[in-house]
Amino acid sequence: MNNRFHTEFCGITLENPCLLASAPPTQSREGIAKALQLGWAGAVTKTCAPDDLITADPANRFAVYRSTEGKIAGLENIEGLTRKTLAYWEATVCQLKQEFPAKAIIASIMADPRREAWQELARRMEAAGADALELNLSCPHFRLADNMGAALGKNEDTSAAITAWVKAAVKIPVIVKLTPNVSNIQTVALAVEQAGADALAAINTVQCLMGIDIETFEPQPAVNGYSSFGGYSGSAIKPIGLRCVAQLAQSTKLPIHGIGGIGSWQDIIEYFAVGASAVQICTAVMFNGYGIIKPIISGLETYLERKGLSKIGALTGAAIPRITSREQLDMHWNRHSTIIAPEKCIHCGKCIRACTECGQSAIRFVNKIVTIDSNRCDGCSLCSHVCPQGVLALR
Ligand SMILES: Cc1cc2nc3c(=O)[nH]c(=O)nc-3n(C[C@H](O)[C@H](O)[C@H](O)COP(=O)(O)O)c2cc1C
Repeated sequence: MNNRFHTEFCGITLENPCLLASAPPTQSREGIAKALQLGWAGAVTKTCAPDDLITADPANRFAVYRSTEGKIAGLENIEGLTRKTLAYWEATVCQLKQEFPAKAIIASIMADPRREAWQELARRMEAAGADALELNLSCPHFRLADNMGAALGKNEDTSAAITAWVKAAVKIPVIVKLTPNVSNIQTVALAVEQAGADALAAINTVQCLMGIDIETFEPQPAVNGYSSFGGYSGSAIKPIGLRCVAQLAQSTKLPIHGIGGIGSWQDIIEYFAVGASAVQICTAVMFNGYGIIKPIISGLETYLERKGLSKIGALTGAAIPRITSREQLDMHWNRHSTIIAPEKCIHCGKCIRACTECGQSAIRFVNKIVTIDSNRCDGCSLCSHVCPQGVLALR
């Protein structure tokens, strides 16, 4: 094990900070085993439920959001929980622990709000050998009408009650997976912390509606002409995940699994900087396979080396002291847009339009050369973002 990566998370030793999140990549023993062999430190099983709550999945359950360049920025899913029985998951957790004793196998569980149902799931997964439990109080589309998933996790009292039931039933650590679809994630986190949670995982998917076919008015993903609100994941949700993890780090002392839009080692550093001490990854694996672990690990190694850090844990919370309220920001910080690479200008005029119509009319062409009037520029930075060529920057 690389000592730099050695992480203790709730008493579980992780050989590196990367776990597979509960999702299609962890829906079978074979898939999880393949991932662990490739170098993942552990996996959270696809969420298990009492057998009577298992439902079918619609044939079309994914839709994607593309940037104007055609790259996939986000994924919507309307998938349910596991379609495999509890007996399958008991056997799977047990086998994986025998085959990979040094890897973390976390069982994700979900039930309706019945104490016996949660406690039975928890006890059976503990008896099967799970290192920890993750309580799915956060799926934004599964049986909300039956008061499950995010329907429970939106309410701090039910979240706390379920956490306390599970804590009373097992000795292994209990991680609560939170939904971002709440007005205040800190309130729910504090409630589950008081109820005995050992750790938090954030975020589950963001409730969304991917789009509408403007010819047929079918919402996407369309299932025989109809759809429902689903869960949004992938790189597009990283800013929401970072915000939630930072808010958790600011309000609780619990260790945090950062989740949401992670696809590269840089994303992991960012999640650590806002308070995570391990991460979980789903959509990037769905799109690119378990093998992404290799470049992620080598990127992290190189970064830690360059920064002279002997432990990745030293990064946890590194950016938190710099996250403050808007009112405390320095309103006198004197910065203006500057032309840093005039030779790259293609005269598209995007900076001029943005500045004229949304800003200060500080940019114009003078003899066909883009020019900034620093007396007019108030440093908003919009021009540097709309420029496709990197001609301008805030200096
Ligand atoms: C198709 C799909 C199925 C998922 N199923 C589950 C699940 O069963 N239990 C759960 O806790 N989270 C589930 N998730 C949420 C992921 O674990 C993760 O929290 C979310 O996708 C954000 O991470 P990402 O941007 O890396 O995908 C699912 C996500 C996707 C895309």
